[in-house]
Amino acid sequence: MDTKKSIHGEWSSRTTFILAATGSAVGLGNIWKFPYITGENGGGAFVIVYLLCVALVGIPVMMAETMFGRRGRENPVNTMHLLTKEANADEHWPYLGWMGVIAGVLILSYYSVVAGWACGYVLKAIDGSFFGVDAQGAKNLFTAFTASPLQLLFWHTGFMAATMLIVARGLSQGFEKSIRFLIPGLFLLLFLLVGYAMTTDSYFQGLHFMFNPDFSKLTGNSILVALGQAFFSLGIGMGAVMVYGAYLPKKVSITETITIIAIADTVVALLAGIAIFPIVLSNNLPLNSGPGLIFESLPIAFGNMFGGWLFGILFFVMLVFAALSSSIALIEPAVSWLVENKGMERSKACWCAGGVTWLLGFGSALSFNIGSDVTVFGKTFYDLLDYLTSNLMLPIGGFCIAIFAGWMMSQAHSEAELAMVKPLHYKAWRLLIRYIAPAAIFVVFLSVVGVV
Ligand code: PHE
Repeated sequence: MDTKKSIHGEWSSRTTFILAATGSAVGLGNIWKFPYITGENGGGAFVIVYLLCVALVGIPVMMAETMFGRRGRENPVNTMHLLTKEANADEHWPYLGWMGVIAGVLILSYYSVVAGWACGYVLKAIDGSFFGVDAQGAKNLFTAFTASPLQLLFWHTGFMAATMLIVARGLSQGFEKSIRFLIPGLFLLLFLLVGYAMTTDSYFQGLHFMFNPDFSKLTGNSILVALGQAFFSLGIGMGAVMVYGAYLPKKVSITETITIIAIADTVVALLAGIAIFPIVLSNNLPLNSGPGLIFESLPIAFGNMFGGWLFGILFFVMLVFAALSSSIALIEPAVSWLVENKGMERSKACWCAGGVTWLLGFGSALSFNIGSDVTVFGKTFYDLLDYLTSNLMLPIGGFCIAIFAGWMMSQAHSEAELAMVKPLHYKAWRLLIRYIAPAAIFVVFLSVVGVV
């Protein structure tokens, strides 16, 4: 398998891979989801658990997933087939690839709806809707927006179309060009927002909320949410990183690049929290207001700060781009599977996979308005999909990846792929992937089921 290359091409350089994988990792998960679930789960203690999940489970699993991709060089289903054969493992392992393809489509279906909100907010930023807005005004703006099925469906459709256009153009032209300026720009704007947050009178209160742990607020479920968020935010457990790994040149160090990417991802999430909580607190907004949190708080900042009109536009444009670079990773496993296994042309595969995802998205879009009463286990369609994918499918996928990498794949193969400079590093990775990561995921699941 050593000289094999993907039929879709390769990343042109190490930097491009870092940018693309960071683009996949950094998205709505960091800026929209991390703050709102931190708010819902009590702050500091949740953040600590989240950081532990990233370090002890997320990073080792992310390395393993990239390694699978680079060794197999095909879509997650085929890659798992090849690796299963190579390792002489049970014939059911390729289902892991399948689960990833399905999880990607499910996640993108609601991800695109929220990305659509960001698109709608670009327009609101342009037309001055945030100007001088207070907490109530910002809340009304968001409520009126999400109450309109037509608007949500319109933006969801637009966002899906943009995603599929980029994916249809393939690796180098579509992906690489769209991510080059995104990450640096996003960092810059986040720093600016943190600067604004410092001027509010609740800056330290916000920091206190985020970093002062109150472990009595942790429940089994919030630990599962932290674990699920680590997977969601890094974009692992569903094959996206595997496909990106399939396009990774042999000479690039997986250990180094993945560590850089995971750190960047975590820093963006923390910056988003540091920017948002002071704004939320100083405007007496509820910390646990759920998915609307950034949409109800950031307009207040933009509406009242110097240069806020321009920064507001830039911020939401950046958010749309960050979402786009994650969306293309979410749908790529399905598209590459259709191309490689069904012999479809890339553009046709895009419209098929994209079409299904787009239709599914209707369920989530409508669950914020006319369908909000339709619930299963007390959860709306959106909540249900989110729970199923982030908290169940991704951690289960991660668990299986860890078991395969640690117990099925031969040590010689993983050692060669990871090519760690110091033997101690490899030993540490192997310890994490064989014991710590699977055990942690297992215990978290048990605690939710109530056994522990
Ligand atoms: N990591 C992305 C985000 O934080 C979402 C994502 C999940 C992307 C899974 C790829 C795979 O927004």
